[in-house]
Amino acid sequence: MKTYKVGYMVGSLAKGSINRLLSKALTRLAPPQLELVEIVIKDLPLYSYDYDADYPPVARAFKKAIADVDGILFVTPEYNRSIPGALKNAIDWASRPWGQNSFARKPSGIIGTSPGAIGTAVAQSQLRHVVVGLGMVLMGQPEVYLSFKAGMVDPEHNIVDDGTRQFLGNHLAAFQAWIERHRPG
Ligand code: FNR
Repeated sequence: MKTYKVGYMVGSLAKGSINRLLSKALTRLAPPQLELVEIVIKDLPLYSYDYDADYPPVARAFKKAIADVDGILFVTPEYNRSIPGALKNAIDWASRPWGQNSFARKPSGIIGTSPGAIGTAVAQSQLRHVVVGLGMVLMGQPEVYLSFKAGMVDPEHNIVDDGTRQFLGNHLAAFQAWIERHRPG
């Protein structure tokens, strides 16, 4: 069985992040062909092109982690009708130095949850714009706009509701097929 490694980035730095909770549930739900590993963004300093001549070890490790996976899954909240600054900062690190964009041609997907009715739709729309501009091969369909409800994820990180669990499982299966089709090489 061919397996694929997916690096997921959680857009929130909060300890109680509902998107981190969702990412843990996705890790449990993923089909056996997908290995989900977190690519941590919280230790990256604020990006400046002053670093381009000599990236710090944490940023080199971050870019290496991206190089080592077959696809990238963004699991992000919506902050002020956009993506969180921490996630944009991580994307800026990955995109540079000029000519060394780690995201180029990487299959990618976007998922997010918020307590509100539109479930991160505006942030996702803006993130689509950014990742397509970076040459990622973004899965545009199916989409996940998930309105978070208390108790949606149990303490073992299972999605409690059958329909939601099936919906997210189907999404991950679609993402696996997307990676199979678009993985470079
Ligand atoms: C929010 N929240 C929010 N929700 C939303 O649906 N649209 C929005 O524009 C915003 N804006 C926003 C700004 C800031 C600075 C914060 C802290 C929060 C609410 C947000 O969805 C909620 O706090 C979630 O819990 C955020 O996800 P994480 O960080 O818990 O994963």
